[in-house]
Amino acid sequence: MNITPSLHAALGMVLALVCGTAVAQASPGTPPAGTLEERLNVILQDPQQVETYARMGQKVSLFCANCHGDGGNSVKSDVPNLAGQNPTYLLTQVRQFADGSRRYEFMERLIKAMSVDERLGVAVYYARQSVKPQPVHDAALVAEGKKYYDKVCWRCHGEQGRGSESFARVAGQQTDYLTQTLKNYRGSVGTRVNPLMTANTRQMTDADLRAVVAYVSSMR
Ligand code: HEC
Ligand code: HEC
Repeated sequence: MNITPSLHAALGMVLALVCGTAVAQASPGTPPAGTLEERLNVILQDPQQVETYARMGQKVSLFCANCHGDGGNSVKSDVPNLAGQNPTYLLTQVRQFADGSRRYEFMERLIKAMSVDERLGVAVYYARQSVKPQPVHDAALVAEGKKYYDKVCWRCHGEQGRGSESFARVAGQQTDYLTQTLKNYRGSVGTRVNPLMTANTRQMTDADLRAVVAYVSSMR
C-alpha cells in the first residue's frame, strides 16, 4: 500500500485525538506487572476489565478502520481483517511492530504512538468482533484448497481455521493479504520469517497456493 506523507500526518493527528480521548475516558487504573501477554491474560479473566479495555479498543479502532474496516472487517483485499483474531496473536503482532521484529513502516509508527493500555484494548476489542465470510467464487478451487488445508495447515491453524494463542486465525482472511503473506513465507521474502511457516509452504506450487487461499478466505 502506498501512503502519502500528508495522509501520514493527517492520520497521526487523528490518532492523537482518538487515543487522547480513549485514555481520558477509560483509564483502567494501575496496571499489573508482567509481560504484555501476561497482562492480557489477567484482563481476559475479568469480565469488567474486558469491557473497559474493549471500550478503549473500540475508540482507537475508529482510526484503524481507515484500513482494517469497521469492526476489523477489512474492505481492502491487501489489508488483513482483525475481527475474530485471537487476542494473544493480535497483541504479539502489535508488540512485534513496536519492537521492529515485524516490519511495516506505517504500522510500526502507529503502534509506537499507542500506549500500552491502548495496545491491550485493540487486542481485546478486535478479538470480540465477528468476521464476515468472503463470497465463494469458484467452488471447485475451494474444494481443492480444502484438501490441501486438511493435509497440512489444520495442524496449527485448526480444522476450522480459527487459530489459537500462537497460531493466527486464518478463516475468512482477505485474499490478497493471504496470497502475499504465504508467498513471503514460502520464499523467505522480507523480515517476517517463520521457520514453521517456511517449512509448511516450501512445497506449495502457485496452483496449491491459489486453491488454499480460495478455501481459507471462504472459511467461516
Ligand atoms: C494506512 C493503513 C493502516 C492503518 C490505518 C492501520 N493498519 Fe494495521 N495493517 C495495515 C497493513 C497493510 C497490514 C499488513 C502488514 C503486513 O503485510 O505485514 C497491517 C497489519 C496489522 C496487524 C497484523 C495482522 C495480522 O493478521 O497479522 C495488526 C494487529 C494491525 N495491523 C493493527 C492495527 C491497529 C490496531 C490499527 C489502529 C491503531 C491499525 N492496524 C491501523 C494497514 C493499516
Ligand atoms: C507447524 C505449524 C504451522 C503449520 C502446519 C502452518 N502454519 Fe501458518 N503460521 C504458523 C505460525 C507460527 C504463524 C505465525 C508466524 C508469524 O508470526 O509470522 C503462522 C502464520 C500464518 C499466516 C499469517 C497470518 C496473519 O494473519 O498474518 C497465514 C496466512 C498462515 N500461517 C497460513 C497457513 C497455511 C495456508 C498453512 C498450510 C499450507 C499453514 N499456515 C501451516 C504455524 C503454522
